[in-house]
Amino acid sequence: MQITKASKSRLSEVDFDNLSFGANFTDHMFVADYKDGKWNDARITPYEPLVMSPGAKVLHYGQSVFEGMKAYKDENDKVWLFRPDENQKRLNISAERLDMQGVPAEIFNEGLFELLKIDSDWVPKGKGRSLYIRPFIFASEETIVASSSTEFKFMILLSPVGAYFSNDVKLKIADKFSRAANGGVGFAKAGGNYAGSFYPARLAKEEGFDQVIWTDDATHTFVEEAGVMNLMFRIGDKIVTAPTSERILDGITRKSLIEIARSENIEVEVRPIKVQELLDASAKGELKEAFGCGTAAVISPIYAIGHKDMLMEMSQKENRYSEMLKAKMVEIQTKAGEDKFGWTKQVTF
Ligand code: PLP
Ligand code: COI
Repeated sequence: MQITKASKSRLSEVDFDNLSFGANFTDHMFVADYKDGKWNDARITPYEPLVMSPGAKVLHYGQSVFEGMKAYKDENDKVWLFRPDENQKRLNISAERLDMQGVPAEIFNEGLFELLKIDSDWVPKGKGRSLYIRPFIFASEETIVASSSTEFKFMILLSPVGAYFSNDVKLKIADKFSRAANGGVGFAKAGGNYAGSFYPARLAKEEGFDQVIWTDDATHTFVEEAGVMNLMFRIGDKIVTAPTSERILDGITRKSLIEIARSENIEVEVRPIKVQELLDASAKGELKEAFGCGTAAVISPIYAIGHKDMLMEMSQKENRYSEMLKAKMVEIQTKAGEDKFGWTKQVTF
């Protein structure tokens, strides 16, 4: 792989005590080009603007998919990844649905590990901090004919981050807009899924909510997932989470938490959840907790959920599952505790 180092590091320009999510990028990036039926020119370059044609397909038809993962530093400054193979596989599942060229595991891993080695000083240490990793593929062919591209770029960017949400959040259940539909691309991490969610999310924000809880598009009666996270509810002392489907992202945090919770002897039910069930449980004081989970959001407790003119407030204020599960998961990710599931992978130098 060709490696071109940045002439000067920008590391000292970043305020690591006030990291806002996704606003800072490290000194280098990884790039590979797909052309003439193969991936070529895998390279690491300084983080810099791209030169591309205004006729590139991604700019017109949004043919792009991405991933989100994190690297963590342990007490001894060793760098660790959490289930990176899951992200590599999911990137290609997304790419296939968008009729894009997937990235072979060797290229993904070589790019990822080499980039992390070069920019390892950027992996922040300490509570709640990590290096967010953004692999993505986009259609770079210069033509605006509305069909699949024959050329793609695969890139990886790195961004030191703190918490995505700094406080507990308040979410609004969608009763008009939809994020995904059966047969669509909801399960894929396609850029367009997010573009379509920004307008409803802004309207919800104007009403005082942090994000939208998406419901099934046909009836708006089942809760599915939130803008950047899957959802879990504590009803009584059980955790209930919706099954993933062709409309919902198969979150890696979600499936890890299901295993962690079960190993802590918490009952977890994976089944469809009606909005009405949440309203009924809330009325009886049994809706104790709700939380979102995702790579960026980690575990974000939800303090209130709005539905039409109702507001459900979570009743459990202390000894919350969300806190216990987050502590267990972060212990695994940062190697502060035992990784009995074998989920972490070291970046060696
Ligand atoms: N759902 C959506 C829409 C997301 O954007 C994310 C974030 O990646 C998730 C769920 C959680 O997925 P993961 O835990 O794999 O990050
Ligand atoms: C992630 O958690 O990795 C996400 O993809 C969320 C992102 C859209 C901010």
